[in-house]
Amino acid sequence: MRPQNIKTRIFLDSGDPQETKQVLSALGFLDGQTTNPSLIAKNPELKNKLSNGERLSSEDINNFYKGVVQEISRMIPQGSVSVEVYADAETPVEEMLVQAREMNTWIPNAHIKLPITASGLEAAHILTSEGMRVNMTLCFSQQQAAAVYVATRGVKKGDVFLSPFIGRLDDQGENGMSFIENVHAMFAKSDGHVELLAASVRTYEHFEYCLKLGVDLVTAPAKILLQWAEHAMEVPSDGYMYDKGIMKDLLYEDVVLDKKWGEYDIHHDLTDAGLAKFVADWNSLISK
Ligand code: G3P
Repeated sequence: MRPQNIKTRIFLDSGDPQETKQVLSALGFLDGQTTNPSLIAKNPELKNKLSNGERLSSEDINNFYKGVVQEISRMIPQGSVSVEVYADAETPVEEMLVQAREMNTWIPNAHIKLPITASGLEAAHILTSEGMRVNMTLCFSQQQAAAVYVATRGVKKGDVFLSPFIGRLDDQGENGMSFIENVHAMFAKSDGHVELLAASVRTYEHFEYCLKLGVDLVTAPAKILLQWAEHAMEVPSDGYMYDKGIMKDLLYEDVVLDKKWGEYDIHHDLTDAGLAKFVADWNSLISK
């Protein structure tokens, strides 16, 4: 069962329903699950089909994704399941809208993942005004976080998640956890309608520090959640210190939350690289 003294909701980051089952049984609860094209590409059943020489069209892969998401949704009907649109840095808003509306019919408990590009923000603005729930992904700067906040202003709490990525900042020597601290601090002064979902969690220490900070949500791979179960779902004490090693902290920027969303500088190289990777992983599944 969920520990009493925990503020953060716990999500599994995986495209494999077998892991949902395993983590649910180890923890006794799960608040949600996040998926993305790269995680679906790692699904063992799909990998098996491909290694057996099955030829799959883009429609087949999409249907497979739908089946996976439906299976996960049935296991955590009270939770949230994030489903990501297929998009690159150039994908126009209309294309995102079509995909998002379709994916949102797959399950009753979806958050639709959209990238933080100009089109993604516009799509989020339109879709949330229609009552759809979104998870804005590949976030690497406070400017991007602020743009998401403004583009969805007025939307009810619970309908908008923001996914700052920790591990990919660490990869380039920047302390991803300092970025989480900064977004957490920036949103502490906000109306709270955007919830911070810490993502790209690679280590048990990332996970622990997210709990210590009390971020709204954290999504972590099965391996880390199972490790947490082995540690009796401990919550770090007040004295917990995160060791950033030799990484450089990202400095807190005083970003105001009352500009127009188009006025924020939303470009980040890691967002572009992340989109390119999702597209490449997805396209690698499609038979030529
Ligand atoms: O939640 C996003 C996550 O799946 C990305 O993780 O390890 O590919 O940076 P990673």
